[in-house]
Amino acid sequence: MSDVEIAPTHDWNGDSGTRWAANLARLDMMLEDFGNAALAAASARPDEHILDIGCGSGTSTFPLAEQVGAGGHVLGVDISEQLVEIARAAAPADAAVEFRCADAATAALPAGSFDLLFSRFGVMFFDDPVAAFAHMRCALKTGGRLAFVCWRGAQENDWVRLPMAAIRDIVEPVPTDPTAPGPFAFGDRQRLADILAAAGFTAIDIAPLDTTISYGRGSTREEAVDDALDMAFQVGPLARALADQPADIREKASVAVREAFAKRPGATSVLIDGAAWIVTARN
Ligand SMILES: C[S@@+](CC[C@H](N)C(=O)[O-])C[C@H]1O[C@@H](n2cnc3c(N)ncnc32)[C@H](O)[C@@H]1O
Repeated sequence: MSDVEIAPTHDWNGDSGTRWAANLARLDMMLEDFGNAALAAASARPDEHILDIGCGSGTSTFPLAEQVGAGGHVLGVDISEQLVEIARAAAPADAAVEFRCADAATAALPAGSFDLLFSRFGVMFFDDPVAAFAHMRCALKTGGRLAFVCWRGAQENDWVRLPMAAIRDIVEPVPTDPTAPGPFAFGDRQRLADILAAAGFTAIDIAPLDTTISYGRGSTREEAVDDALDMAFQVGPLARALADQPADIREKASVAVREAFAKRPGATSVLIDGAAWIVTARN
């Protein structure tokens, strides 16, 4: 058994979506470098038509819309009504964007119409990833591009590795399948390549991206560690693992997780390692 066991449950149109919405600003800060690397790999051009898969509150949809300009169009699709509402409310009046609340795995999409399928961490939650990617590929023009960023394994990502290892002796780990739908479903590079090939994509490139994440911020070191702890308790695998635990267990977990974050460097933030794949492919 790995020392990082992650419960795979995600209720994006319920609790997971609510937690994501409540922590948008800090999540956007945490994910910024990853999103920018995916946008660079996608290299959207003026007049293109783009599908942003699992677009959430639209953080990646808006820069894509700027890149395609008035002659292009970006459709953001997300399964969370709450996040789609936030995205719609934030959309500039003149932006060529549209948001739709739908399951990207099955949503009715115009055949052969997009130049680019893009995603920032929104494609790891499909029950049947081959069927989902094959479905979305049908909406891509011949020769069109796929570009997305997804997490590598939980073991390589401190934002989950540190807190989950810290509570290992406090909360009984639930044995899980590392390939089950969830943030780390695509941690195995070969499995991801096989999924995309089976879905009909070609020229598949899966490149590692390692960055230092500023997880938690504050005007002092203490504040930053507290902020990192609060964030881990609010959103992600630790939050899910502790959701139904009694107060005394949560308190013990809080002490252990705080200690783990406090060991990491950083003056006004907690600097931790983050590991993702930047994935590109063609139709
Ligand atoms: C980790 S969040 C990323 C959100 C956004 N792309 C960002 O970077 O801020 C994953 C997103 O994928 C969405 N999602 C999960 N499964 C989906 C599906 N089958 N169809 C559409 N969206 C989905 C969730 O609702 C959530 O907004």
